Amino acid sequence: MIRALLGNYKNQTTSVLQRIHTRLLRVGFKNGKRVNFGSKSASAKTFYPELALRAAIDPSIYSVFRRHHLYTPILEHVSLKDASLYLNIIKDVYHLADDEIYQATEPLQCIGSPYKIHLDRLRMPISTTSLRYLKVALEIKDKLKDGPSPDLVEIGCGYGGQAVVLDRIMHINSYTFIDLWQVNYLIQRFIEDAGINCKYRLATLGSLDGLGSWDMVISNYAFSELPQSLQLKYFDQVLSLSRRGYLIMNSGVDGKFDDINNLPQDSLLKLIPGSSITDEIPVTFSENYLLEW
Ligand SMILES: C[S@@+](CC[C@H](N)C(=O)[O-])C[C@H]1O[C@@H](n2cnc3c(N)ncnc32)[C@H](O)[C@@H]1O
Repeated sequence: MIRALLGNYKNQTTSVLQRIHTRLLRVGFKNGKRVNFGSKSASAKTFYPELALRAAIDPSIYSVFRRHHLYTPILEHVSLKDASLYLNIIKDVYHLADDEIYQATEPLQCIGSPYKIHLDRLRMPISTTSLRYLKVALEIKDKLKDGPSPDLVEIGCGYGGQAVVLDRIMHINSYTFIDLWQVNYLIQRFIEDAGINCKYRLATLGSLDGLGSWDMVISNYAFSELPQSLQLKYFDQVLSLSRRGYLIMNSGVDGKFDDINNLPQDSLLKLIPGSSITDEIPVTFSENYLLEW
């Protein structure tokens, strides 16, 4: 149904530019010397974690972080064309009216001053990224509709926008945010400001041991960017302890995000019992896919 609505549309220009920008941002210098970032995820290799931390503690940065030129290559870069496709799905598959769309994404329209655009099918200007979070949230709600209020865990949460939208459209028992420690400060500030309703906790991979099990793990454009060694740790400590999974992967069939070696598709399918792969819809970069179980 969704594919029929979209045809075979692929919009990759914006993503290519973002990858080039992200690559340039990684070339860091301190006191005239090249900074060695070691074996980390793509976003952890940039100045992004420090910027997130500064945004969390400095009101003047926080008030505009979602339009900051160093922040938008990592997040807040959904193109106008992709936004229209997300909106088509939200309206034609899930039948949400303009007011319901606004209600579900309301905190994401103002906190951090995102750019907002006009779309033909929507009365008010809207943050394009909020439409992606809403489309994903509707799919996750649908997958979990037969169970009790779920315990959710997310790996690589940005500023927590996905959780905020999910929390506004369904009842969640608990939400565990796992990100870099610097980024967790920004997530906490953002979700507190947005007024999240569910119980939550923030963790890093290192602080996870014994935190328990979950009904679903979510990780969009995040687990897929991690090097294999970290992915296997996340498999042991989170994926294998999650009954279901919803992961948008931007590491291609062979497991390569830029210069990082990630787990290829066939290894992931062998590792995770009951897992399957479909296209990301809409496809935002060549070979992106959705890994679910
Ligand atoms: C490209 S962003 C995606 C954010 C969000 N999932 C979204 O859909 O907008 C990647 C996220 O992964 C996080 N990240 C980087 N290294 C990580 C690690 N080792 N463990 C957990 N999260 C990490 C980054 O801080 C960032 O929040």
